[in-house]
Amino acid sequence: MLCLGIESSCDETALALVRDGVLLGQTLKSQIDLHALFGGVVPELASREHGRVIGPLYDQLLKECRVDPQEIDCLAVTRGPGLLGSLLVGIAFAKALALTLQKPVLGINHLRAHMLAVGLEKEIPFPALGLLVSGGHTHIYHITSPLDFRLLGRSIDDAAGEAVDKFGKMLGLPYPAGKYIDRFSREGEIRPNLFPRPYLDNDNCDFSFSGLKTAAYNLLEKRPELRFTTGTDAQGAPPALPPGEIGSELAGLCASFQAAVADTLRLKLERALGQLREQREEGARVESILLAGGVAANSAVRAGIGALAEKNSLPLLVPSAALCTDNAAMVAYTGEVLHRLGLCHDLAFSAVPRGEQVPDDYGKFLRYSEG
Ligand code: KG4
Ligand code: ZN
Repeated sequence: MLCLGIESSCDETALALVRDGVLLGQTLKSQIDLHALFGGVVPELASREHGRVIGPLYDQLLKECRVDPQEIDCLAVTRGPGLLGSLLVGIAFAKALALTLQKPVLGINHLRAHMLAVGLEKEIPFPALGLLVSGGHTHIYHITSPLDFRLLGRSIDDAAGEAVDKFGKMLGLPYPAGKYIDRFSREGEIRPNLFPRPYLDNDNCDFSFSGLKTAAYNLLEKRPELRFTTGTDAQGAPPALPPGEIGSELAGLCASFQAAVADTLRLKLERALGQLREQREEGARVESILLAGGVAANSAVRAGIGALAEKNSLPLLVPSAALCTDNAAMVAYTGEVLHRLGLCHDLAFSAVPRGEQVPDDYGKFLRYSEG
């Protein structure tokens, strides 16, 4: 089965072809440079850019994979959560293509696609405990099958990546700052008491990173000299640590902030695992831990969740870097898995903006010609 995946939920336009669980190819255009000028994604600009590049990316993909459009068996498109205008570009393109090719189309939950992406590289032992950490989401799921996701915890304010990016902005780093903070952390010493491990004093598996952000803000208010001054221009050279004392203090700040985020993620995931195990029911079993999303690239987060998995003798599955960040391979893969289960949408399915639940409103596979 050949599935075309389309992703346009935020600032990446991507199309991919997956055949029988194997990625044939992907074309992707990131808008990071465009939005870096504004310090965050500007929704109107994002939609316009998706509309400009999506057609050429489709042509390029088919050409590179030497695939004829008629070979495509089904289409899968991210329907949410995401930026409404951006999602609508991908969905309109997918529906138009579905009509033209007379092929079934599926609207895909972007968060579930992130969690299932690793299935392109390894078989996922279900049930799995999943942690999705990106710029927009921090979710813990118990996943019993590709169709059954139970949300155990989520951020009640900023996502982990958002907190890291905002911290980076306070330090004068370009957006998105996560990779720089990770890089500079390697040269810094962690001061475990510098930042709080927020929102642990409860019995739930939710997150709240706003207190951590405020702690960083208050600290930097008192120390305005702790800022990156070189390489902060998004178009120029990458930022670098300044020499001397300020440089080592900045590296220590990055390492300490990153450790606070990583510890908090690990502690809440450990709590979720403990609560599932306490249930002692067959349905609450955990056979693996999945880590996904852009922040899964972070070395401290990987090490922390890796240690948790090892302590509990569970395999940890983390997709390779290109499958961690937004991509269309995960959408195509999820589409293929769901379509094999006999599912599809009719042309009435809609986009779902951030903050709203993506419904499980699939229908049974019908050819349009059959009504
Ligand atoms: O999943 P993603 O590509 O996009 C969505 O948000 O959907 O995640 C992007 C996030 C950004 O916040 C970025 O700063 C963060 O992932 N990120 C990192 C690292 N690489 C990317 N955060 C910490 N350490 C990294 N190495
Ligand atoms: Zn994403």
